[in-house]
Amino acid sequence: RTVAVILAGGTGTRLGLGIPKQLLKVAGKPIIEHTLAVFEAAPEIDEIIVLMAAGHVPDVEQIVQQAGFGKVSAVVEGGQTRNATTRLALEMIGPDDCNILFHDAVRPLTSGRIIRECVNALWTYSAVDVAIPSADTIIQVDEDDCITDIPVRSRLRRGQTPQAFRSGTIRAAYQEAAGDPDFAATDDCGVVLRYLPGTPIKVIDGTDENIKVTHPLDVHLADKLFQLAAAKAPRLADHRDYIEELTGRTIVVFGG
Ligand code: CTP
Repeated sequence: RTVAVILAGGTGTRLGLGIPKQLLKVAGKPIIEHTLAVFEAAPEIDEIIVLMAAGHVPDVEQIVQQAGFGKVSAVVEGGQTRNATTRLALEMIGPDDCNILFHDAVRPLTSGRIIRECVNALWTYSAVDVAIPSADTIIQVDEDDCITDIPVRSRLRRGQTPQAFRSGTIRAAYQEAAGDPDFAATDDCGVVLRYLPGTPIKVIDGTDENIKVTHPLDVHLADKLFQLAAAKAPRLADHRDYIEELTGRTIVVFGG
């Protein structure tokens, strides 16, 4: 069994809209609807659970019902932090042995190819991340904004989601983390890296399109990327799921 967990417990303070950014419409639909459509269409995914910002569970239930997303088995409230939301999802899934993919609700341009590669990698690895190279040089700074280090760019990647795990691995990592009063993380692979050291975490290639809608500019970018996805033939294979979802037509990709 493979379960997709859609992390939507945040409110989008950096976007500052007054509604959680995952409910914002892009290319004619709420961001979270685009996201759910990709997982609903992925043959590797058996079940989807959504953890939504407080007060907005009914909004998601309505989207799920109207779009007819039959794989969505539960929509519940998320936690105070992203990791608290992950923890709640783990409690919901229980002790079953399964694959779990955690995905940011606000990355509506993920793809069937990424999901497939994550699930396939779980045959070999118990933890899988998705990342892309960094075009920018990444610098490390101290409290005074002075450079302390410039890591070699070719070894750096920008982390995206989904992040995929064998259930036993992510559960064990969070169990260890529970005993740490200084626990702090921004993703789930970081929890495995820190609390189950030595666990290999495989990285598969993400895409430039798989952006996390974070700042106002990203909303325009996401809108444009959906347009491009519909128009850009060479990359069609990556976006087939969206285009089919957007147009209601089946897309045949030649050589894709
Ligand atoms: N998330 C979550 N539970 C939280 C906080 C965040 O499930 N308590 C989710 C968000 O809904 C989002 C993903 O984690 O899909 C990535 O987080 P981020 O982009 O930081 O979202 P927000 O917390 O909503 O944004 P901000 O930091 O600007 O407030």
